[in-house]
Amino acid sequence: MGGSRSGCPVAHGPHAALPPALPVGDVVAEAVEFLHLFHTERRLPGVAERVAQVREEVALTGTYRHTREELTYGAKVAWRQSARCVGRVRWAGLRVRDRRDVTTVAGIAAELTRHLAEADNGGRIRSVMTVFAPDRPGVGPRARIWNDQLIRYCGHRCADGAVVGDPAQAPMTDAVVGLGWRPPPVPGRFDLLPWVIETAYEDPTLVEVPRDLVREVALTHPAYPWFGGLRLRWHALPVISNMRLRVGGVDYGCAPFNGHYLSDEIGTRNMGDGHRYDQLLPVARGLGLDTSREDTLWREHAALVINQAVLHSFRLAGVRVSDPHTESELFMRFCAQEERAGRPVHGDWSWLNGSVGWAALHAVHHRYYDTRVPNPNLWPVDRAYGPDGAVALTLRERHDAARRRED
Ligand code: ARG
Repeated sequence: MGGSRSGCPVAHGPHAALPPALPVGDVVAEAVEFLHLFHTERRLPGVAERVAQVREEVALTGTYRHTREELTYGAKVAWRQSARCVGRVRWAGLRVRDRRDVTTVAGIAAELTRHLAEADNGGRIRSVMTVFAPDRPGVGPRARIWNDQLIRYCGHRCADGAVVGDPAQAPMTDAVVGLGWRPPPVPGRFDLLPWVIETAYEDPTLVEVPRDLVREVALTHPAYPWFGGLRLRWHALPVISNMRLRVGGVDYGCAPFNGHYLSDEIGTRNMGDGHRYDQLLPVARGLGLDTSREDTLWREHAALVINQAVLHSFRLAGVRVSDPHTESELFMRFCAQEERAGRPVHGDWSWLNGSVGWAALHAVHHRYYDTRVPNPNLWPVDRAYGPDGAVALTLRERHDAARRRED
């Protein structure tokens, strides 16, 4: 999904090495900066004592353990500073589940299941993050989820080279098949991918997604009955599971989180993009548009209709979803809040703005943003498998090698 707006934002080589461990000085510098932010914003005393304690712990162990409050607040600030997210007005409401003590594949799978239930909340989706054990300094994550999101649809490769389902998930589908997963006998366009979870002690393990917790919405259009005949659907929850939370010099390589959808993400990107479900042409045909020339703007028209279908269907199903007008207004409120607090608004203009032709209708479009990317923040993790689904090195092999070096 490298470079795509709909997933991991940075292209990673299949076998990309871990980022080198930061020298201890940088951990301390980042820790000190974060602890000051934490104590100032929360109006807490005792920052000097806490800084001294952390310095000592880092000198001894190369890292330090956050208090639960530091972790919770750090995760919220990471969201607040995520340049690509337009929904950040909600940052303080993030529910942070501190699960740093859960380290087995079975334990992680159980927590992911609870995460889905808490986030789904009967369709009134809540923003949730589950934080597992921090990375081992210089070695890497102690646990890794191969899926880029907890709920994704397979991309089954056919003999003729075509893909049934989500083409963006074809490499992941190859990877799970490589691990022994049996796809459904008749490949469908919306088959759920299983999870792959691995830890420093356990090899990559397949886990079926708890089906009953996956809410999906069938797409229909308020004005076009034929639209339902396209048999399109999407899941209610976007749970990103391939990003690393970095707080005060500590990396949490396994920290899945979710918000709720903005219509554009599904209607324009997932359904419209040529390298995804590629539905502009079928929809334009349904509408009877002239697709023989670009200047009829049939693509824009079709994208607009799919976006209407997404908003209509989610509302009808009682599933929380946002539209670009509301989101733009809320984002302007966020900008005002941040500026009142004396903070710059970090932002990536190209991601904040909707992708359909009407982006210029919104206030988000009409200003620029601070392009620096401070920590706490969320960063892409390196992929576990290559474009062909092959694995370079498991976490276990990586951690074993580090242990041998230490002996
Ligand atoms: N664009 C991604 C998708 O279509 C989801 C990214 C996160 N989106 C969100 N609203 N929190 O699945």
